[in-house]
This record gives sequence, structure tokens and C-alpha cells, in this order.
Amino acid sequence: MSEVYPIPAETAKNALIDEKTYKEWYDRSVKDPEGFWGEHGKRVDWIKPFTKVKDVSYNDDVHIKWFYDGTLNVAANCLDRHLAKRGDQTAIIWEGDDPSESAHITYRDLHERVCRLSNAMTEKGIKPGDRVTIYLPMIPEAAVAMLACARVGAIHSIVFGGFSPDALAGRIQDCDSSMVITADEGLRGGRKVPLKANVDKALETCWSVKNVIVVKRTGGAIHMVAGRDAWYEELVAKASPTHAPVEMDAEAPLFLLYTSGSTGKPKGVVHTTGGYLVYASMTHQYVFDYHDGDIYWCTADVGWVTGHSYIVYGPLANGATTLMFEGIPNYPTVSRFWDVVDKHKVNIFYTAPTAIRSLMREGEEPVAKTSRKTLRLLGSVGEPINPEAWNWYHRVVGEGRCPIVDTWWQTETGGILISPLPGATALKPGSATLPFFGVVPLMVDAEGKELLGATEGNLCIADAWPGQMRTLWGDHERFKQSYFTTYPGRYFTGDGARRDEDGYYWITGRVDDVINVSGHRMGTAEVESALVAHPKVAEAAVVGYPHEIKGQGIYAYVTLIQGEEPSEELRKELVNWVRKEIGPIASPDLIQWSPGLPKTRSGKIMRRILRKIAENDYGALGDTSTLADPGVVDDLVENRMNRV
Ligand code: PRX
Repeated sequence: MSEVYPIPAETAKNALIDEKTYKEWYDRSVKDPEGFWGEHGKRVDWIKPFTKVKDVSYNDDVHIKWFYDGTLNVAANCLDRHLAKRGDQTAIIWEGDDPSESAHITYRDLHERVCRLSNAMTEKGIKPGDRVTIYLPMIPEAAVAMLACARVGAIHSIVFGGFSPDALAGRIQDCDSSMVITADEGLRGGRKVPLKANVDKALETCWSVKNVIVVKRTGGAIHMVAGRDAWYEELVAKASPTHAPVEMDAEAPLFLLYTSGSTGKPKGVVHTTGGYLVYASMTHQYVFDYHDGDIYWCTADVGWVTGHSYIVYGPLANGATTLMFEGIPNYPTVSRFWDVVDKHKVNIFYTAPTAIRSLMREGEEPVAKTSRKTLRLLGSVGEPINPEAWNWYHRVVGEGRCPIVDTWWQTETGGILISPLPGATALKPGSATLPFFGVVPLMVDAEGKELLGATEGNLCIADAWPGQMRTLWGDHERFKQSYFTTYPGRYFTGDGARRDEDGYYWITGRVDDVINVSGHRMGTAEVESALVAHPKVAEAAVVGYPHEIKGQGIYAYVTLIQGEEPSEELRKELVNWVRKEIGPIASPDLIQWSPGLPKTRSGKIMRRILRKIAENDYGALGDTSTLADPGVVDDLVENRMNRV
């Protein structure tokens, strides 16, 4: 039996949703989804109100539509509608990489900045439906750029600033972006990131881009291409401060976000306008129990879906004050997170288990010396949180007073699907607990047979929710194949889970060839194709292995071409090669030289065996008799790199 943390009396007293309300609403949401969502769909402002709530099929052609005869504008919902009541309220608190730099941006100011950029973008020829790639650091202009796209009806595609020029180019080419918005350089942990130089490199192979807008962040020397590149500051200074938001269909794409799958290139997940905004804002309000006046901080980067839904769209649609942080948890000191909490009086704090684990290693003193008395609620996202890290977060950071919402969701889901609600759910460390309104999780075995009661299996979702992705950009067939064919008629998450006797869900991790490194999602196939692109590599197989801080580390088995000798130097060269091809987040942690890989007689690599060896669990390799050459396994075991 695991520990149970009851709902604290203080939380229960003030919470928006109590236990009884959760049960009543949840019940209704699954018995009468049309009625439930028809009501909650009104939480956003519609230009033309919807009369149709839902049109979904998970079979045959697979289509998902919500509120589909309504029209609205997301930026108007995040800005204009708040002006009368909250024009002078802070929308964004920006905390720079350097602790001496911070800023408060009111709703009125943010509105004006977004209007100016919207006009400047229109001037540059951007029209509804055009794709705009955003490659920016965590500065307010990132939110301004997102909202300006939404305002003019352009579809943004944010590429995380840690991705390489090649990775950026692939993402620009896939959606034919006509504009890139970037900065001269980024700043993280005191180090500069050459964003504009990366864009220049990427654009050598991207013909669709006509305009590049460059924000001046560091003032570092960069090259501006005449006729293509323009300074952000100059464009917005001369643009008009008013702009009429474009009326968009509920199902018009709002953004694309590339994420890793188990095979092939990253997939362009498509989220649309109405359902996404309803779902992002509703989950933000209830999961974080957001009350007017609360200071809310999500430490994610806008390059990931968490930054989209829970730094920008959800909070701003709710008229919240959202904190945006440019830096990293251990700069200039490992107390930084807690110093920022005290400086800005943060009430709600949302981060990833990998950050908690790395700070936990530094001991309690860097936390204890800060006050944190304003904190009321803590959140976790991105990967399973081990009970040890959960308990440390709860006891040391939250001083036993703050509930932790362990929120399970995915780029594809648009918003949180399984999570406690602070005033409604007793907590169990390591469990994401119960489904949000309208979400029907379903456990199946390998054959797709539904498993009932307390059980362990593959996690599917039975029906649609408004924030769900609608397709993959330019590849509806891959969308169907990836999510709806493994278990026909169900959305397959790619995650394994356990459901306990109380109906609580415990996510056990990916069951496909996707790994989760420090909360960053990575396809093993992507790292493999980067490795085999190196002239000395004949073959490579990549798997995840347990890593104390990162959750999972990247373990690569590499076979060199004939005549090449393994060396420490080559190992370093390969690590740098992958960093250059994809980005630092894809760096292999361990590389094992492998004269051969375990393959079946038909040539299929047996990853199960590679995973076991990487986990240092080589005593239980199972049946190896179907291998073409069982001898290769002995060599791999003998020379394994992970011996903990
Ligand atoms: O394996 C699950 C894990 O992260 C995957 C989704 O990654 P991504 O699309 O990058 O989105 C991350 C932020 C939403 C999931 O398939 N994951 C996410 N949150 C949790 C989690 N695993 C366990 N517990 C969580 N709270």
C-alpha cells in the first residue's frame, strides 16, 4: 500500500472544485459530453457562438471537431477581453537569466505590443493560414510573437532554442514557413546561444522563408541579410498600436509543434483554435486551482507544449499573472528557483521531476535558506516522478503544506488529461491520480483487450476531449497509423500504466521507441539516423536506460565501418556529431562499440535485448535462440557500459 496524503483543510476550504463537485462534473462529462462541453465551451469569448459541440470519429478516416460552427480569435481571448477589468494588472512577470533583470508587463502593454507586431507581420505579407516559425529564447517577445500569429490567423511553429540548425531547417521545410522570428542571441546560465547564426545556417536549405524578424536580446554581433532580415524593435516602433483581430474558425489550426515519434522524422502535431483554448484554459484554472490575483509560474520553455498551454494560452485566457523565466535552475546558484519564488511572491509553481532530482542532489540548505511562504501549490510534468523526489518536493520545497499536482499529458493531448485537482483528490506520491473532466482512460493488453479493475497495461483514451490534436501536418495517414491503428477505435498514448484499487493511474513510461530524457521527448530512431550519418558509423541502435537525474539516459550501440578503430576520441567526436545534428538534448550518455547487433534471421534488431543490457539487467535476456548469431550478445554483455 502506498502512502496517501489527504486534501489539506486549508486547500479544501478555498478550492474551486471539491470532491463532490469533481464526482458530479466528471460523471456528467462522460455521460453527456455534448451537454457538459456545450456549457464549458462558453468560458471563452466567441465572435460567432457555436451551436455544434462535437463531431468525432476514431474509425476509418478519423476526424475530430469541436465547437465547429463557431468563430473566435485566441489573442482577443487572451488580451482584449481582459482590458476593461484588468488592463493594469500584470499579465507577464519576466525574470531574466541575470537575477538583476526582470520586468512586469500589464495586459494593456501586452495587448499593444501584440497589436504592433500583428501589424508589422501583416505588412510583411503574412496572411491567415501562413506558417511562422518562432525560434526565440524565453523573453516576453516569444509570447508576443505567439499571440500576434494567433491574432492575424497565422499558424506558429515554435522550435526550441536548443535545437541545431539542421533540426530547425527540417521543421521549417516540413511546413513551408514563410517567416522566422528569432533573436540575435539567447542567454542561459550566463552562456550565449547563437540563435540568429543558427537561423542563417538553417535558411541555406529553406527556400520558403521570405522574412526574418530579429529581436535584439544581447546586442551581440550578427549578420543581417538585406531584403530578408529586419530588426523587431524597428518594425514595431513604426507599426500602429491598434489591430482588429481576425475572425477564425474554431477548427482553424492555431499552431504546429514538432515532437518525436517512434519512427522517422519528428511529427508536426496540429492544434486548432476553439477546442484547444477551452481545454487549456479550463485545465489551467482547475488543475492549478487558479484564483484571481495568484502569481503562477511554470518553468517550462515555450519550445515545448507545456510552455504553449501553461505559460501562455491557458493562463492568459484566464486573465492570470504568468511568470516567464529565461534562465536555468542552477544559475547563478542552486537556490535560483526559490529566490525567484520569493522575489515575485509566487503562489503556484510548476516544474519537471528532472529539475527536482538535480536540486535534491544539492541538499536541503539551498532551499531552506529561502522563505517560500507564498507557495500554496506545486506541480510536476513531463515524466514519471519517483516517490523519493515527490517526497522531497513535498517536504522540503512545500514544507508539507502544498499539495502536488502530478499532471500527465502529451504534446498531442494539448492539455492535462490525468492529474489531481488540489481540493478534490487525495494524493499518492508517484501517481498522476484521476482523469480530468471528459477524459476516459482505458487500459488494454497487447492484443487490445480491455483490462478492468486494478491492472497494468497500455494506456488508451476512449473518447475525444476538446484540446486533442487534430492531425499531423501534411500527413493525416501517419496520424491515423500512429495513434488509432494499434488499438482500433481508441487513441493510443504510447504510455504504459498501472491502475490501482482506488482507480488511480500510475504512468510507468513509454512502451514504444520514444525515450524521455530530462523530460525532453526523443525518438531513438532520430538519434540513430544522426549517428549513421557519420562517415565512420556502419550501424547504430539507441535505447533508453535509467538515469538518476535525467530519468532516462541515451545509450547507443555503435558498429563502425570496416577498418575503423574505436577510440575515446571517436567517442567524443560522435557525441559532438549528434549535438550538431540534433542539439545538446540528444547527446548520447553512453556509447558502446558493438562489433555486431543482435538480429533475428530476418534482420530485425532485437531491441528488447539491447534495452536489458543497457539497464544492466543482462541475467534476464529471455529467449535468444531466434537470433541469427547468438554470440554477439555475449560480447555486448561483457563490454556493457552501464554497471550500476
Ligand atoms: O511518457 C509520458 C511523459 O511524457 C510523454 C509526453 O511527452 P511530451 O509530448 O514531450 O509532453 C511532455 C509535457 C506534457 C508522455 O507520453 N509524461 C508527461 N507527463 C508525465 C509523463 N509521465 C509520467 N507522469 C507525468 N506526469
